[in-house]
Formats: sequence, structure tokens, C-alpha cells
Amino acid sequence: MPVVNVRAADLRDLPGLMRIEDECFGVEKFSPDTIRSFIERTDTFVIVAIEAEETIGSAMCMVSVERGEGRVASVAVLPSFRMKSVGTKLLEECESEFIGRGLAISILEVDIANEAAMALYESMGYAVLGIIKDFYGAGRDAYSMEKTLRPKGEGIRVKIS
Ligand SMILES: CC(C)(COP(=O)(O)OP(=O)(O)OC[C@H]1O[C@@H](n2cnc3c(N)ncnc32)[C@H](O)[C@@H]1OP(=O)(O)O)[C@@H](O)C(=O)NCCC(=O)NCCS
Repeated sequence: MPVVNVRAADLRDLPGLMRIEDECFGVEKFSPDTIRSFIERTDTFVIVAIEAEETIGSAMCMVSVERGEGRVASVAVLPSFRMKSVGTKLLEECESEFIGRGLAISILEVDIANEAAMALYESMGYAVLGIIKDFYGAGRDAYSMEKTLRPKGEGIRVKIS
């Protein structure tokens, strides 16, 4: 597979981002205004994955400096590019940005029926905190998940006595 680059999105990425919304979320997609706002606000950001000048994936994030936490609002990869670690790359970039902004925790919600997303989040070290009933509408529950972020190079400390 050719090289996939991830970077912060700007407004020129809107058409590519809307294509991802259409193909990955259908009627539940974010509107262009919502995505524009995610790009422009200082407490939100958008990451895109680019392969050969094509936008093949995206992640939308929110930042709460007061709570010291970042929230991943969505991660999506075009169907023909899935299972090739693009989602992992996007999530890694979201976490680096959170760390760069001094945040200690990354949180997210995921539909309990979304096996692909659960696999991605678990492989990245997210743990289930609990279930939020009807989060996505009547009868559609979400897992609330969380990961403690570690700046690069900071390993797990083992105390030897
Ligand atoms: C969820 C999603 C972003 C995953 O993207 P991806 O690029 O395929 O993910 P990766 O290739 O990085 O896979 C990460 C891990 O999840 C596993 N995984 C991914 N999709 C899977 C699936 N359908 N079934 C089982 N495991 C899966 C991979 O095997 C990999 O595991 P590993 O690290 O142990 O090898 C993608 O399926 C998608 O866009 N779905 C539609 C949008 C969506 O539901 N987003 C999440 C809610 S906002």
C-alpha cells in the first residue's frame, strides 16, 4: 500500500471530509457546518489521512483543558482502505495532539454494536468505563471508553524494592 500521511485538516479538506462522512456515516453524518466548526475552533481539531492526494480517513476531536481530557468524537476510514492500520494512525495522531496540548486522558463513546470501532479502540489500549443507555437513540447504547495518555518516551514505571 502506498504511503499514508496524517495531518491536521484545514478548510481546503472540506470536500474530502464530506465524502468520508457520506460513505462512512450516511444519514448520521456531520454537516459541512459542523465540520467547518471543528476545523476553525481552537478547542476542536480534525485530522485527515491522505494517500496519493486522496482523503481516505478522518478523525474529529474536542479538547477540554479544564478537565485535562480530549474526546475523540469520530474516526472514519473509507471502506476500501480499512484493516490497513489507517484508523490506528489517525487515533495515534489525535493522541499526540492531545499530549501536545497537555491533556492526560483521551475519552470516547462507541456504539456497543460497532465491532470494528471496538477492535480499534481496544487495540489502542482504551478501556470500557461503563455503558451509556440510549446514547445514540432509543435502544442504541454506547460504551464509554478511556485511555491514560503518556508522553512519548515515558514508559511504565516499575518500582523495585
Ligand atoms: C472503525 C474504523 C475507523 C477502523 O479503521 P481501520 O483503518 O479499519 O482500523 P485498523 O486497520 O487501524 O485496525 C485497528 C485494529 O482493529 C481491528 N479491526 C478493524 N476493523 C475490524 C473489524 N471489522 N473486525 C474485527 N477487527 C477489526 C484490526 O484488526 C486491528 O487490530 P490489531 O491492531 O489487533 O491488528 C473503520 O472500520 C470505519 O471507518 N468504520 C466506519 C465508521 C465508524 O464506525 N467509526 C467509529 C465510530 S465514530
